[in-house]
Amino acid sequence: MNQQENIITLAEQFVRQALQSDYTGHDWWHIDRVRKLTLELATLEQADPFVCELAALLHDIADEKLNESKQQGLDRVRDWLRIHVSSMEILEHVMLIVATMSYNGGVNPRMETIEGKVVQDADRLDAMGAIGIARAFTYGGAKGRAMHDPQKVIASDVVDYRANDQTTLAHFYIKLLKLKDLMNTTYAKELAEQRHIFMEQFLQQFYGEWEGKR
Ligand code: ADP
Ligand code: NI
Repeated sequence: MNQQENIITLAEQFVRQALQSDYTGHDWWHIDRVRKLTLELATLEQADPFVCELAALLHDIADEKLNESKQQGLDRVRDWLRIHVSSMEILEHVMLIVATMSYNGGVNPRMETIEGKVVQDADRLDAMGAIGIARAFTYGGAKGRAMHDPQKVIASDVVDYRANDQTTLAHFYIKLLKLKDLMNTTYAKELAEQRHIFMEQFLQQFYGEWEGKR
């Protein structure tokens, strides 16, 4: 095993351990899907596969939902990288990706590097389509949210996109249906288009059944 493969294996172990009891959509299989799609996109975009895979594996370790604060989460990633990665350039690049890739209401600046673009696209694609729908309802369930409430207006311009009184269906308008237009790379745009259509079909079917259309 060469040195980079060794680091990837250690990163896998670290992440599996850290996320083993997460039921809010950041489980190991999310990371594994994002890592695989990241590598596909990296090949197409000629991005550095090692930086991409490492950032994909570590991207959710710093999530605010799993740490006391964003800063504490980022320190955790940096501490791990300091022990395992000798190149400062690679360390800083992975840190930059992990620190800036989250959706954050769509207000984060654009990813600067192709490696960052690729990992961000892969993560966002996993919030779309059939799996994205499943993750949203899993998250909503874990947070005790209603799936839908017809008396609550579903507004696409809700300011606080993580407001606690939102239903899971509202999350589609607040975030999931916006992701299609935020993709960075060509193939990700294609995949996002298909997954977007599937989510729209799902919503149509959902409302149809809710309203008793036969
Ligand atoms: P990411 O891994 O892209 O950073 P998040 O941490 O925002 O994603 O969320 C993890 C998963 O939970 C995603 O699939 C996301 O769509 C879903 N999710 C996040 N917030 C909500 C919410 N308020 N309602 C339903 N699903 C949500
Ligand atoms: Ni993620």
